[in-house]
Amino acid sequence: MDDIDPEDGLPVCEVGEWALEKHARLRKYIDIYRDVRKKFSPNGARGYRGGTTYIDLFCGPGRAKVRETGLLIDGSPLVAVKSAVAGKYPFSEIHLADLNPAYTEAAVKRVSALGNNVHGYAGPAEQTCEQIVSKLNPHGLHFAFLDPYNLENLSFGTIRKLSTLKHIDLLLHVSVQDLQRNFARYEANDPSALDAFAPGWRLHVNAKQSINAIRADILKHWQGLVRKLDFLEPQGAELVTGSAKQRLYWLVFLSKNKIANDFWEKIRNISGQKNLF
Ligand SMILES: C[S@@+](CC[C@H](N)C(=O)[O-])C[C@H]1O[C@@H](n2cnc3c(N)ncnc32)[C@H](O)[C@@H]1O
Repeated sequence: MDDIDPEDGLPVCEVGEWALEKHARLRKYIDIYRDVRKKFSPNGARGYRGGTTYIDLFCGPGRAKVRETGLLIDGSPLVAVKSAVAGKYPFSEIHLADLNPAYTEAAVKRVSALGNNVHGYAGPAEQTCEQIVSKLNPHGLHFAFLDPYNLENLSFGTIRKLSTLKHIDLLLHVSVQDLQRNFARYEANDPSALDAFAPGWRLHVNAKQSINAIRADILKHWQGLVRKLDFLEPQGAELVTGSAKQRLYWLVFLSKNKIANDFWEKIRNISGQKNLF
């Protein structure tokens, strides 16, 4: 049973304190590209005007309780939308999805208090992604945040579908912890979660080496798949570690646009940690 935020009576999910780092980068990225949003906004420069979209396929309920401190914080949809509003160029459309319908409903209610045009979807990301992409303006500027618990839910099919949009930037949570903990099981089962994340990995990765070398090869294979979708080579990815310095996840930014990649380079390194690629 989820906790309730006494402020609005809606559910909150529980997160580790490392979620704050993820949210800090999301907030900063949305702030740094505000002038590009201005160009695409419905009142923006001539020739653009396709609108600007925020897509969150694993949105949670919009508020979260930090496990270690009990502090109540904004979840990704509120972090993103508040940052855009503060930067004076709010998104013209917001699409929020989660497997849990109660979470989608709560997130939509919370975000709707800040602006219009908020759409909710309940279901697995692979399905909601299809629904959302079919509704988007192909000339719009789209930003999607994909924040699953594990690799299986970060399916390559979802990224491929989003890549069909012309102007799309993605910020992805790639769970290193999942890879470290569950690799033996993923290798034993065929197909497994890893096949959804990085199709074809068995042909490219030697499973008889150290877990570090396996992890590096899987990510290299995944990077190759992503490049075939017309994304620029992923630049730096941020490794977020836990309080015991355990590797938790990489935050990976994908774009087809050099300026967007440069923006990510500027803001990504909050804590001076290591580079994935
Ligand atoms: C890490 S939490 C998201 C937290 C949220 N992004 C935030 O920062 O506040 C992951 C979310 O994914 C949802 N989820 C789990 N499996 C999913 C799936 N296959 N498709 C979409 N959502 C899923 C869970 O209900 C949970 O809300």
